[in-house]
Amino acid sequence: MQVPFLDLKAQYASIKDEISAAIQEVLDSCAFAGGPFVKKFEDDFAKYCGCKYAVGVGSGTAALWVTLLALGIGEGDEVITVPNTFIATAEAISFCGATPVFVDIDEEYYTMNPDLLEAAITKNTKAVIPVHLFGQTADMDPIMEIANKHGLHVIEDACQAHGSEYRGKRAGSMGHAGCFSFYPGKNLGAYGEAGAVVTNDEKIYKKIHMFRDHGQSQKYYHDILGWNSRMDGLQGAILQVKLGHLDEWNRRRIENAKLYNDILFDVDGIVVPQTAAYAKHVFHVYAVRVKNRSVMMNSLKEKGVSCGIHYPIPVHLQNTYKFLGLPKGIYPVAEECADTMVSLPMFPELTKDNIEYVVEGVKTSI
Ligand SMILES: Cc1ncc(COP(=O)(O)O)c(C=O)c1O
Repeated sequence: MQVPFLDLKAQYASIKDEISAAIQEVLDSCAFAGGPFVKKFEDDFAKYCGCKYAVGVGSGTAALWVTLLALGIGEGDEVITVPNTFIATAEAISFCGATPVFVDIDEEYYTMNPDLLEAAITKNTKAVIPVHLFGQTADMDPIMEIANKHGLHVIEDACQAHGSEYRGKRAGSMGHAGCFSFYPGKNLGAYGEAGAVVTNDEKIYKKIHMFRDHGQSQKYYHDILGWNSRMDGLQGAILQVKLGHLDEWNRRRIENAKLYNDILFDVDGIVVPQTAAYAKHVFHVYAVRVKNRSVMMNSLKEKGVSCGIHYPIPVHLQNTYKFLGLPKGIYPVAEECADTMVSLPMFPELTKDNIEYVVEGVKTSI
């Protein structure tokens, strides 16, 4: 049996007619850059997230970057995040001139450890970016409490957490802004590059809205320095269709994770993902921890099972960030995860047979 890590073709096949109709509508109206399809998606996505506003942008990286800029973060400022994230979280901080500062993650849930946050705050700290990794939100109440106490902005990196919840609140709705990626493989993925920022703050919304379109308040009237980071109309229309399926796709991901967990939890030598009592985990990634990762991955590959690693090198040890001078060993939990994590196939269309086959392969290889 072949089990892919992700099967975008299976998902496309299940909504092909709806997608074709949506694309045709955009082609017929020629609303390619921004426009009504993006606006409709923004309105519905904001509502879905429990926020007043959403702004469609070009990618998740751009969403983080424009949000930091809108909050006035720049040269000399520090922004706190975690080391076990996709590089984009730190890149966005660096690309507005600020410095990323890291705090280690919680051993059980792999998100920012709130107990370590306060010690990382200095007089230069301006914001905190908790990352809702793998589809599970960070522990937001203590993070918000500490941030509020120190007058810091909180930007949720919700790029892996569409539809995820924290104590009944949707990812993206708890901080000052929430940033999403619609990279094709995400729980809500475009058919190209796209992202969005959601917020309840009108000032932040207006600033980002202008910034993504050359700082203009009306065509050719440029009030602030901006950039081109618009979402395109085709992506808006495609995301609109897919948003209607997101809850059902997330439900199937959760069911698949439960099936994996039920079989794997008592297998010696493997640590399965935990869902916190406060969370609705939507399993963008299903990552287990094993001692001998390469043996397991090679054995699964021989059996036709594709796996991934999220992420093999934590951000502070990437060549890009060597200049920060952060030594190996400084964030032990993130580093241990980088050495031991394997992401098993996870997507809504995965079958029970697929999962049982993967699990059999896992059991015989550890
Ligand atoms: C946690 C996290 N942040 C940011 C991004 C960046 O999103 P994009 O690839 O859409 O720029 C991603 C995408 O993989 C991500 O997983």
